[in-house]
Amino acid sequence: MDHADGSGRRALKKAYVKSYGCQMNAYDAARMADVLGAEGYAPTDSVDEADVVVLNTCHIRERAAEKVYSELGRLRVLKNERTAKGLDTRIVVAGCVAQAEGAEIQARQPAVDVVVGPQSYHRLPDLLARSRERRVVDTEFPVEDKFDHLPRRRTLGASAFLTVQEGCDKFCAFCVVPYTRGAEVSRPVAKVLAEAEKLAEGGVREITLIGQNVNAYHGAGSDGAPVGLAELVQAVAKIPGLARIRYTTSHPNDFDDALIRAHAEVPALMPYLHLPVQSGSDRILAAMNRKHTGDAYRRLIDRIRAARPDIALSSDFIVGFPGETDADFAETLRLVRDIGFESAFSFKYSTRPGTPAADRTDQVTESVMAARLAELQALLDSRRYAYQRAAAGQVFDVLVEKPGRYPGQVAGKTPHLLAVQFDAAPHHIGSVVPVRIIEAGTNSLFGQLVSEAAAA
Ligand code: SAH
Ligand code: SF4
Ligand code: F3S
Repeated sequence: MDHADGSGRRALKKAYVKSYGCQMNAYDAARMADVLGAEGYAPTDSVDEADVVVLNTCHIRERAAEKVYSELGRLRVLKNERTAKGLDTRIVVAGCVAQAEGAEIQARQPAVDVVVGPQSYHRLPDLLARSRERRVVDTEFPVEDKFDHLPRRRTLGASAFLTVQEGCDKFCAFCVVPYTRGAEVSRPVAKVLAEAEKLAEGGVREITLIGQNVNAYHGAGSDGAPVGLAELVQAVAKIPGLARIRYTTSHPNDFDDALIRAHAEVPALMPYLHLPVQSGSDRILAAMNRKHTGDAYRRLIDRIRAARPDIALSSDFIVGFPGETDADFAETLRLVRDIGFESAFSFKYSTRPGTPAADRTDQVTESVMAARLAELQALLDSRRYAYQRAAAGQVFDVLVEKPGRYPGQVAGKTPHLLAVQFDAAPHHIGSVVPVRIIEAGTNSLFGQLVSEAAAA
């Protein structure tokens, strides 16, 4: 919907893309911006001036899904205001709510022009064009591979996500992902490497390989035989220009010896691991269909720490899974104390329609969940703050990613994924520099560049 401005020139069309949810959604959002960019839409941070608005939604918990509808309510008002001024606005709902709810979204909010699922967003230009005739829904799992139909990546920073594996076959009893993202699929090694090389050529220094179960990666190698994540990490590490590799999210049951060894042997593989455990109670783990025990998780962590003693560990927890008793919850606290996670995410269980746990009659009350979450978070936070305070006085290699909060500052990350702000010129963005930590705040560390000369 090009509109002519007063001078008769074509005004530049603009697209606003907002992402909720996991890193995979962040990657998809960036790729949708690329697709729209190739159609002549410049990215904008201001929704009021957008000709296309994309909400890339998350369905993982009820609150995440409901947020979309309040946002859509506001967008409808905006769309009407723009229509009154003769401006066209297309509203697109993408992501996991789109996949899960499809046409229901348009029934609830008629201002939505396009509903598109996570596997078909490469068709956005066509869907937008068709939406001028009637509202469209595309939640197919197409036979063609969306990755083969995406344009080159634009707007690259110092670090980037790269999707290598999608979908999930694990069917944890609480989780919508197997339904919204479909079966587990790995991209072939050559395609991953080609994308990683392009990223490195574009100035990216750190790549995070992402997948819902990224360590279940089994992409086809050059001879067609499956290659595991450890081997993929080794291949990516050889790409010139790349300084750092990370991967997320992994599953305890897919952790093989080769991946543990990679943490000891591949210097570019950063010492940080997000390994969700969800609960410390064997009874609850079994009910969740996680297929491992608390002790199996402890033993795995022992082996990983033996390979890489300074590794920072992170995890996800759910409190109040149906049937969780005080004794079960105490087991979760015990596991947290035993392991000592450097950071973590914790959530109240949220009933998701269509998942096995939703049918259980022994749901935990909201007040019990709230109390358990507060107790768990207090324990996790105390360890996290202690870890951050212990960073003070140490020197870390920091990958400088962007300008800092205040003028004259830049912001970056340590190998252990701690955020650091420090005084330095913006030309350091994209470099790995040694920084001494001076002070630890709650969410960020403050440091000092050790020496300009040492900057890589
Ligand atoms: N693939 C990852 C998790 C993806 S979802 C894994 O298996 O570990 C991210 C996190 O959201 C999960 O680890 C879990 O802690 C949380 N989560 C998923 N479904 C949830 C639900 N129904 N209620 C509350 N939290 C949930
Ligand atoms: Fe969801 Fe479990 Fe799959 Fe993770 S492994 S995405 S929690 S079903
Ligand atoms: Fe949410 Fe979908 Fe990711 S449900 S967590 S955006 S896979």
